[in-house]
Amino acid sequence: MVEEWKRAAAEEAAKLVKGHVLVGLGSGTTVAQVVRALAKSRPKAVFIPSSFSTQRLANELGLKLSSLDAHEKLDIMIDGADEVDPNFNLIKGGGGAQTREKIVASAAQKVVIVVDRTKLVRHLGERMPVPVEVLPFAREYTMKHLAKLGGEPKLRVTPAGTPFVTDNGNYIVDVKFARMAKPAQLEAAINRVPGVVENGIFVNAADLVLVGYERGCAKLRLKKDFLKFVQSVKA
Ligand code: 5RP
Repeated sequence: MVEEWKRAAAEEAAKLVKGHVLVGLGSGTTVAQVVRALAKSRPKAVFIPSSFSTQRLANELGLKLSSLDAHEKLDIMIDGADEVDPNFNLIKGGGGAQTREKIVASAAQKVVIVVDRTKLVRHLGERMPVPVEVLPFAREYTMKHLAKLGGEPKLRVTPAGTPFVTDNGNYIVDVKFARMAKPAQLEAAINRVPGVVENGIFVNAADLVLVGYERGCAKLRLKKDFLKFVQSVKA
């Protein structure tokens, strides 16, 4: 069911790509659906992927790829998220790609986030810890400092029990925070910890949120759209 919701939102996102535009692509299963939808609609756009997995899929499906070094300004970024709050703050990094995603998003004039409705939350941190990319060097030291911010840090491991390694060759520490009252302050505080590369809090980061749900896809642009939508699906 959730897969159908993701697909409904992904197909709507693909419709936004028209003509010779430059498009940043995030990562994850929802973005993979966007890539598949784009492969069907075949726009003349050029795509800048933010992870090896998205790059591989987009390449296999014949999308034209480039890099941020070749294109400093993008027209649009399409990405997924793990949590979206009413102020369009996000938690990202379930796939460990938040560092590159944040860089690519920073180059885009417009950011479109594509999710299924289970990702909408009242407060960040309700369902997810904050993924933090850290240098493997002195990771214990970095984790101790992350704990001082009030969170519970846990090194992400693969099913084989080895540390999960990002596309940048680093580790991910998932930090659980009880309640995130001030995401912007926490984002900055985490990034000040020595050894941290980037974290998965994205503040006020979406111009448009496309939400797949039972009845198709909702387009949320404002906080009031978000609150109304959440009320309507609860009823
Ligand atoms: C990867 C991300 C993804 O966008 C996020 O984890 C959502 O993934 P999915 O669409 O598979 O639920 O931030 O770093």
